[in-house]
Amino acid sequence: MSAIARYTELGLVNTKGMFTKAMKDRYAIPAYNFNNMEQLQAIIMGCSESRSPVILQCSGSAIKYMNSTLLRLMVKGAVEMMEDLSGSVPVALHLDHGDSFELCRSCIDSGFSSVMIDGSHYSLEENIRLTKQVVDYAAEQDVTVEGELGVLSGVEDTVSSEVSHYTKPSEVEEFVGRTSVDSLAISIGTSHGAYKFKLQPGEEPPSLRFDILEQIERLVPGFPIVLHGASSVMPEYVAMINRFGGKMDEAVGIPEEQLRQAAASAVCKINIDSDGRLAMTATIRKVFAEKPGEFDPRKYLGPARDELIRMVKYKNEHVLGSAGHA
Ligand code: G3H
Ligand code: 13P
Ligand code: ZN
Repeated sequence: MSAIARYTELGLVNTKGMFTKAMKDRYAIPAYNFNNMEQLQAIIMGCSESRSPVILQCSGSAIKYMNSTLLRLMVKGAVEMMEDLSGSVPVALHLDHGDSFELCRSCIDSGFSSVMIDGSHYSLEENIRLTKQVVDYAAEQDVTVEGELGVLSGVEDTVSSEVSHYTKPSEVEEFVGRTSVDSLAISIGTSHGAYKFKLQPGEEPPSLRFDILEQIERLVPGFPIVLHGASSVMPEYVAMINRFGGKMDEAVGIPEEQLRQAAASAVCKINIDSDGRLAMTATIRKVFAEKPGEFDPRKYLGPARDELIRMVKYKNEHVLGSAGHA
């Protein structure tokens, strides 16, 4: 199939330049997941207003939900809207947790500037083969590729795992060398979703395995590392959801201080999906609780979008350190 669009035609960049700068100045690029127009608007506006480069990312199921044609044109429109309203920042469009060569190829051909091929649940040899196949195809369009070594617990789109397996530093050099990937997602104690740890009352979340991260940094100096499952499951949103009729009592995430520490290391990309979901859900629940007669979607999706803009700016400014680096 010939390409439908090249990412440069959509006003996008790949992640190469973003990561080089993030590594040098010790911050992380935010990678926010989206599934609809309001999330896309909020991410773009929040990053433009905080002058942060941004990676827009969607999973295969998010692409199906939106429809790939509509997604492509919405992203093109969002970039143009941003330029008109508040000035442009570098934007990449990234496939999150691609599970096959075919999905990666179709995203590359339809305007994504970056893809993840997640072969982490395969043997090392098969992961290397699959990742290299995607890297070779992506290179023809100057699209960047993220691989993954080690398994996070929780649901990763179609892939779910009950237990996590930390990344083995001994495999990293070989994986990076043989695949030529542009960045690598690692498993050091984060997990997907809003229930990252089972804690007893008063117990603090355990520390991420910064020792593993440091070993990896020594083995592949200057190589961009990616942290998935990095929502802090912001307690104010969990409390708001519970206050307005929801039930998420056990929800807990990665403490912000640990994310700041990661962002100042070789971690150049931090993935955030759950926190955005919580921000919108909390706001929508509040509107419905306070105005039970409301039925105009703009009256609850609008405030939810505003809250997501605030959240994005807060993360960029106070957690990832990417604000002001556009
Ligand atoms: O890592 C997975 C992301 O949070 C995307 O989730 O497959 O429900 O879109 P999703
Ligand atoms: P969270 O569930 O912690 O937001 O992680 C999202 C993610 O890693 C997407 O790939
Ligand atoms: Zn992920």
